[in-house]
Amino acid sequence: MLVTGIEILRHAHENNYAVGAFNVNNMEIVQAIIEAAEETNSPVILQASQGGLKYAGVEYIAALGKLAAHKAKVPVALHLDHGTDFQQIMLCIRHGFSSVMIDGSKYGLEENIAITKKVIEVAHAVGVSVEAELGKIGGTEDDIVVDEREATFTDPKEAKIFVDETNVDYLAVAVGTAHGVYKGEPELDFDRIKTIKEMVNIPLVLHGSSGVPDESIKRAVSLGINKINIDTDLRIAFATAIKDFLADNPDNIDPRKILGPAKKAMKEVIKKKMELFGSVGRA
Ligand code: G3H
Ligand code: ZN
Repeated sequence: MLVTGIEILRHAHENNYAVGAFNVNNMEIVQAIIEAAEETNSPVILQASQGGLKYAGVEYIAALGKLAAHKAKVPVALHLDHGTDFQQIMLCIRHGFSSVMIDGSKYGLEENIAITKKVIEVAHAVGVSVEAELGKIGGTEDDIVVDEREATFTDPKEAKIFVDETNVDYLAVAVGTAHGVYKGEPELDFDRIKTIKEMVNIPLVLHGSSGVPDESIKRAVSLGINKINIDTDLRIAFATAIKDFLADNPDNIDPRKILGPAKKAMKEVIKKKMELFGSVGRA
């Protein structure tokens, strides 16, 4: 069933576990996520970035996501990831997304609050949940590029002001992760997660979670992370499986045979993440 993001994340927040939010760009990725969620009885969030929407079209992604959610035996939210454009966010709401992110992290606190409030006024009026971001998460996520030197951690006091003023449903925090493939091992600021959680008491979101060691993820969840975004790890599984298949079967031209192993590989990765995040059996 299709549910709002906050329905899924409120339960995770109250019961101290996290739900995976996996990036989708095509049917095989959607199916891999839903099959993994059903087989592990996990709630799940399908999310599309602006790049994903540009690639597939908002109508296709919305139709795929809603069909998958309606057919699924587990709760599914359809979420816009890193929305930076007010009109596109409205378009997603119009097409039935049940959750949207307004990423105003490139602005100062006041402007980020103002743009977030503007989105929330409309989204909440029609029952759509909202994620915002405070602090700047480093790395590259499609067309959003934040240089390492520009990345800034979330200030807990600012987080408190931000949440009080906007009434946002869940907050993405910058605590040491970055988008894309890590060069070294990421070091998370666990004290910061703990302090922010105590001060805002709403679900917190971890971006750039691919490649973060399992132990760090577990600790982050125990301290209050409730939504964990994964894109790069699915891309790696997808591309590796296709390369391996074509290396073994260079003459095969059947898209079903080529994409089948990719879907299977992504599904295995997703199931492991669900186990790690603690969402298994929570549907
Ligand atoms: O918004 C999406 C994520 O933060 C994905 O990050 O590609 O490092 O897994 P990742
Ligand atoms: Zn992100």
